[in-house]
Amino acid sequence: MKAGWYETFGAASEVLVVGDMEVPAPGPGEVLVRVHASGINPSDVKLRAGARPGAVMAYPRIIPHSDGAGVIEAVGDGVDREVDERVWLWNAGWQRAFGTAAEYVCLPSDQAVRLPDNTSFAEGACFGIPAMTAWYALYSDGPIEGQTVLVTGGAGTVGRYACQMARLGGARVITTVSSEEKARHSTAEEWINYREADVAEAVMEMTGGAGVDRIVEVDFGANQATSLEIIKTSGVIASYASAAEMVPPLQFYGFMFKDVTLRMLIAYHLIGDRHKRGEAALTEWLEAGALSHAVVPGGTLDDIAAAHEKVEAGEKLGTVVIEV
Ligand SMILES: NC(=O)c1ccc[n+]([C@@H]2O[C@H](COP(=O)([O-])OP(=O)(O)OC[C@H]3O[C@@H](n4cnc5c(N)ncnc54)[C@H](OP(=O)(O)O)[C@@H]3O)[C@@H](O)[C@H]2O)c1
Repeated sequence: MKAGWYETFGAASEVLVVGDMEVPAPGPGEVLVRVHASGINPSDVKLRAGARPGAVMAYPRIIPHSDGAGVIEAVGDGVDREVDERVWLWNAGWQRAFGTAAEYVCLPSDQAVRLPDNTSFAEGACFGIPAMTAWYALYSDGPIEGQTVLVTGGAGTVGRYACQMARLGGARVITTVSSEEKARHSTAEEWINYREADVAEAVMEMTGGAGVDRIVEVDFGANQATSLEIIKTSGVIASYASAAEMVPPLQFYGFMFKDVTLRMLIAYHLIGDRHKRGEAALTEWLEAGALSHAVVPGGTLDDIAAAHEKVEAGEKLGTVVIEV
């Protein structure tokens, strides 16, 4: 099979190669998936660059990318699934050597979720991390109907799904973006340009001084002071990144006196029944045609290095997806 891989950390153009490998055979409990689309997330790129704290090559060869979509081609012992089922994949690159940047991948059957017919493979390759992180950040404490949610960075891959999923759950959504174009991309009707406006002041004005019940946070450190001002008593801040300040000083007593729940979440640990609840919600929204997706074409496997560079450049609006 054709696959993209690296055997040492480094710059995309230096370490990513494309070549031939044996098609893997599904073990007990696994499915073999013919991959049609492979989604690239910032974490795949950071892993390949060796940018994670304490990074060591855990395997001699790594096929990158956690997310993808394709068709089940064979099943291992004990798996009761139909061959030819269309599926989207999650955690294919989490603590595993071989992810979705290949014509085939084997993984536990649970990590291949039915993809509704009205949803393309490229769209399905955006779910494992962007869509499920958004769901996790919004719904890990139960329903959000009637709440006011601030989604910071609503034009990001996670943020855009969070804006949509919050609205679908009956919440009022306010987002922060850096331009009008990004505001449109976010799909949120109420937005603030966080580079130009005082976000705390704007949110308090928009909410009549009440603040917000929940924040879906793309940069905890950078926005901590603002969040503390606008979060309601007993609110939740669900943060999935803190890139500008990776070890921010925590305003403990500020949060404590407001009885705030700080959730630092990572999609890779959304597993088991909680993942299944997210899958069920996503499937319902997909079947109803209620979600729009932002796919940025990343070419084919031969273009894998350029596709990684596109993610690193940070200019794209959506998930870079490679056709396999
Ligand atoms: N914990 C997890 O499970 C998890 C899951 C997915 C992603 N992540 C991490 O989350 C980060 C974003 O990922 P992504 O795929 O969503 O990236 P993305 O598509 O590049 O989006 C990032 C967005 O964040 C916005 N942003 C950056 N700093 C901001 C700030 N201080 N306030 C408001 N908005 C801000 C950017 O807006 P402008 O460009 O307009 O400034 C951009 O729209 C990455 O570090 C990624 O590794 C973590």
